[in-house]
Amino acid sequence: MDAHDGLSDRSRKRIKDKIEVLREEQTSDAVREIMEFDKTPAQLKAEMDRFIIGQERGKKIISTAIAFHYKRLGAALRKGLAENGGDVDQALRGARSPRANVLLIGPSGCGKTYTSEVTSRLAGVAFVHEDMTRFSEVGYVGQDAADILVDLLMAAGGNAKLAQMGIVYLDEIDKIASEMMAFKDVSGRGVQKGLLHLVDGSESTVQVGKEKVTLSTRHVFFIAGGAFENLRGLVSQRMGRQGVQGDWRDHLLTDDLVTFGMERQLMGRFPVKVVYDPLTTRDLKDIMTRSADSVLLAYVNDLQAWSIDLRFTDDALTEVARHAEREGTGARGLISVIHRVLLEDMYRLPGTHTGPFVVDVQDVKERLG
Ligand SMILES: Nc1ncnc2c1ncn2[C@@H]1O[C@H](COP(=O)(O)OP(=O)(O)OP(=O)(O)O)[C@@H](O)[C@H]1O
Ligand SMILES: [Mg+2]
Repeated sequence: MDAHDGLSDRSRKRIKDKIEVLREEQTSDAVREIMEFDKTPAQLKAEMDRFIIGQERGKKIISTAIAFHYKRLGAALRKGLAENGGDVDQALRGARSPRANVLLIGPSGCGKTYTSEVTSRLAGVAFVHEDMTRFSEVGYVGQDAADILVDLLMAAGGNAKLAQMGIVYLDEIDKIASEMMAFKDVSGRGVQKGLLHLVDGSESTVQVGKEKVTLSTRHVFFIAGGAFENLRGLVSQRMGRQGVQGDWRDHLLTDDLVTFGMERQLMGRFPVKVVYDPLTTRDLKDIMTRSADSVLLAYVNDLQAWSIDLRFTDDALTEVARHAEREGTGARGLISVIHRVLLEDMYRLPGTHTGPFVVDVQDVKERLG
């Protein structure tokens, strides 16, 4: 363990191995893909709609931010490459891209993490998911920024150029609010200050084996997400004091997040704030039947392999959605409810039944007791 770069020998070796295999072949293809990025916000949103149900306003805002970011970066790369005779590093350095980083606020299981996963998949760029709760653990302060860069480098197959154009999702960002950390040994302010440099587009050097890799986050797109429990109450109170009326989501200010315990400077780096809604029974039902990643569709596919044609009646779906909603864990509730409903059948049907198999509302009620 080298005390200076905070990397374990294991991560260093993993990175080095990956770099050797992938670096050569990857760069030109991926750079070309970003240069040719040609999705409009509406096209990107239409693709998101296949996976993410509801959250219409949020999807609009995010698809716009992402489409503009990569279109701008692509144009800057094209121009830079033309001027610099094919030097991607030079081109990246010369490119200016004012980022509109996104802060995603919303209850558990409503699609925050999922949105960033889907978005990066659609944009075709490197993606890392960083759980901020681990930064709130005692003794972790100081390693944060470097660790995130290393993760990003890994996600880009060890390719620094691609890493620098990726998406970083800072999950559970509300867990590093000062208020939340008051009872711990680390200060939330310290952790937030560390993140600030990263989000700001700083350049850092990480040691990888014998090599030093310099990475800039200038063109990295940051999405931060958190439940920010009770934020609604806090905003409503403030609105009450000031005699402001209307939907709290339209009146959310950086100040409210500061009251919550977030650093003003850090929150200022996330100019685009999106509030996700709790999922309704209707949404949960649509997730089962329409989302390309739906758990129910996965089970349907699995059973098809045994020539079993699983179907739920509409009432049965409504009943499942109602139960899931009661769990209060958003779409995650669907997984456990569907599993409970189908457990017996999944055991019994393969090998004993072929053809249509219909689950009706009575079946659902019986199995959920
Ligand atoms: N709006 C949605 N449309 C389709 N699927 C969804 C939606 N929201 C959640 N899901 C499904 O539920 C899973 C859990 O959602 P996700 O991880 O995005 O929750 P989250 O909002 O990040 O919650 P938490 O605050 O607990 O982290 C996703 O992997 C996805 O399969
Ligand atoms: Mg999440």
